[in-house]
Amino acid sequence: MNIVKTIADLRAAVARARSDGKRIGFVPTMGNLHAGHIALVKKAGQRADFVVASIFVNPLQFGPNEDLDSYPRTLAADQDKLFEAGCHLLFAPSVEEMYPHGQAQQTIVRVPGVSEGLCGGSRPGHFDGVSTVVTKLFNMVLPDLAVFGQKDYQQLAVIRTMVRDLNMPVQILSEPIVRAEDGLALSSRNGYLSADERATAPVLYRSLKELETAIRGGRRDYPALIAEGLNALQAAGLRPDYLEIRNAVDLQPASDASTEVVILAAAYLGKTRLIDNQLVDIR
Ligand code: PAJ
Repeated sequence: MNIVKTIADLRAAVARARSDGKRIGFVPTMGNLHAGHIALVKKAGQRADFVVASIFVNPLQFGPNEDLDSYPRTLAADQDKLFEAGCHLLFAPSVEEMYPHGQAQQTIVRVPGVSEGLCGGSRPGHFDGVSTVVTKLFNMVLPDLAVFGQKDYQQLAVIRTMVRDLNMPVQILSEPIVRAEDGLALSSRNGYLSADERATAPVLYRSLKELETAIRGGRRDYPALIAEGLNALQAAGLRPDYLEIRNAVDLQPASDASTEVVILAAAYLGKTRLIDNQLVDIR
């Protein structure tokens, strides 16, 4: 696996692969890789001939009081995992390489509508930072396809909408959420949890599964279901940020006409913000 830190070296390496007739697959990450990220890399390897991953903790998508400084940076271990997963090229740029004109670069890609509410509501500017950095990375790598996780469901919807609206020539693929044995969705932020908190954390997934069961059993009283879910999280000692039941595709509030819904939740456990979601096909 080749490791590059500059845009020039990245472009040269990708151009070589492309001139060999290879299809380029791309997996953007912020590092501290776990089995969830690795599933995306493997998917890219199945669908493309040359797999590029990026590791960049993007300051533009962190709020002023968020965990930018403490976000885990584990480049050496990440390199080993990527190599084992069959990644061909790792792009690990510095902040200066990505934002040479300072973080307040003038051009921002904003995807209104789908980026509003949910995580966008509690993290103002977060999705502008995500869509802007993903656009920059797409323009640097020029991939044929890119793989994202369903763990960050709203992020996936923002990226799909951006690619559609701006005619970006990149096929977007997604992978299901990879979980620990007790159901907790794998996340780099799980490392912030104390042992007690880690034992409590699977309540988030269990609560989503209970709501899923209720919907599959025929319940459509979404506001009451949401209230029940919020109570369950609070009773277990979590501080819910939001719990919503939305249409799976456009993320509008679910209604009687909905055919596929997604239950989305974010909750604090101590200082750690956990997110999770569960799709429910009700056709
Ligand atoms: P990061 O949180 O590192 O996640 C990188 C990718 O891994 C995302 O597509 C995310 O949805 C996926 N992922 C994380 N945990 C997962 C899990 N348990 N199962 C399946 N997929 C999982 O998301 C970002 O970085 C950034 O916002 C980024 C897109 C790189 C832009 O900076």
